[in-house]
Amino acid sequence: MNIKRFYLIVLFILLLIFQTSAQYSVPPKMKWWYNDRFGMFIHFGSYSFLGHGEWAFSIEKWSKQDYQTNVTAKFDPIHFNAKEIADLAKRAGMKYLVITAKHHEGFSMWDTHVASFKDVTGTKFYDLPQFTKFGQRDILKELRDACRLDGIKFGLYYSILDWNHASQTISETNGQMYSTMKSTEACADYIRDMKAQLKELIDRYHPDILWFDGDWTYNSNEPTLNSWWTKSDGIDLYKFLVRLNPKLLINERVFRGAGLGDWMCPEQKIPEKPESRPWETCQTMNKSWGYNAADSDYKAPAVLIRQLVEVVSKDGNYLLNIGPKGDGSLTKQTVNILSEMGKWMDNNKQSIYAATRSPFAVQPEWGYFTKRNGKLFIHVFYWPQNGTLEIPALANRIKKIYLLNNPEKLLTYQLTSSIIKIEIPHNAPDKINSIMVVEVNGIPKAKAN
Ligand code: GLC
Repeated sequence: MNIKRFYLIVLFILLLIFQTSAQYSVPPKMKWWYNDRFGMFIHFGSYSFLGHGEWAFSIEKWSKQDYQTNVTAKFDPIHFNAKEIADLAKRAGMKYLVITAKHHEGFSMWDTHVASFKDVTGTKFYDLPQFTKFGQRDILKELRDACRLDGIKFGLYYSILDWNHASQTISETNGQMYSTMKSTEACADYIRDMKAQLKELIDRYHPDILWFDGDWTYNSNEPTLNSWWTKSDGIDLYKFLVRLNPKLLINERVFRGAGLGDWMCPEQKIPEKPESRPWETCQTMNKSWGYNAADSDYKAPAVLIRQLVEVVSKDGNYLLNIGPKGDGSLTKQTVNILSEMGKWMDNNKQSIYAATRSPFAVQPEWGYFTKRNGKLFIHVFYWPQNGTLEIPALANRIKKIYLLNNPEKLLTYQLTSSIIKIEIPHNAPDKINSIMVVEVNGIPKAKAN
């Protein structure tokens, strides 16, 4: 190889590294998820009937028997309307959805045939069609089908710990309320049965995502009856699932904090800066995941829209929760919030989908940046009153600058070696978030000073 060619190849590799180091390089199976950015989380289970949130079983210290008789048996989601939910998600601009198939309460939302998932008498399957009077409707399938029609990817949440299963009781060790295994044998049998349930879910619903939780009984060493879920269980579970479907996306909570799974899940928080690998924050609209009749402390749509923008500016995904009522209907606030978010997304979605992190290390006080090939999006939450907005200089050549919703009217700007100074209208075009676009050649990059 001649020397010139060698240097060209080295230069090409360096360019490639520089290009991708600016954001995550994701495996092909994750491309859609990384592009889509915005999803809906749904906490729905027999706890929705009680309306005290999904932890009521443990917090209120129900016995298995009483919980089954007074809560689960009465769960009757007759107003569950899969089309309404999928349409609402679509209108809000959400591209994927994750619903609880089994939460910590141990109640299966589908017709399970795995023998050990029974009620306390050991005679009845503890699941929606067989344990309640709701009957034979398959709401997971209804929702899966409605999602497919609306072009929304479908995911299922599954809790590793199970407060109802005969192998476990709610644990109060160290003041926590996870689960304690009866014996080592019961633990091994449960893990085998859990995998059988997950195979059922994959075979029946072909989910795009499996979203785990309830892995807190984890332990990197030898398992104990209180800390019975091990890192090797998490690794084994991930391998088992991708063998069943190599395209399946699986979150980190197969065993959190150990770099497993396909992405990190900071819960109810947005990290200071991009994480070391793809991440998704899950957030509630009020303060509860499962329906809580006493909680009407909903955030304003503007707060949630700004959260979404902040998340994308840090290269993350945003999974926003709804908690339907026990009868399957949605609260008025839920519908209203999602409709408002949808109106905003309709006008501004190009700054969210397939957009990645800010090219700048420091975030401005007035908002955030996102970017795509050829465009830098300036999201202004707090509109300056002095007629100018200053942003750090770019390494790219600037073609033009305009308000995202008024591309015809170009904005004047001045360049200094370190700053772009943009002349802006006096009033904010959008009270929640006004967006300006800086059109450039290539992916926007900060100018090295
Ligand atoms: C917490 C809660 C759980 C909820 C989850 C969502 O872990 O315990 O109830 O499902 O957050 O991420």
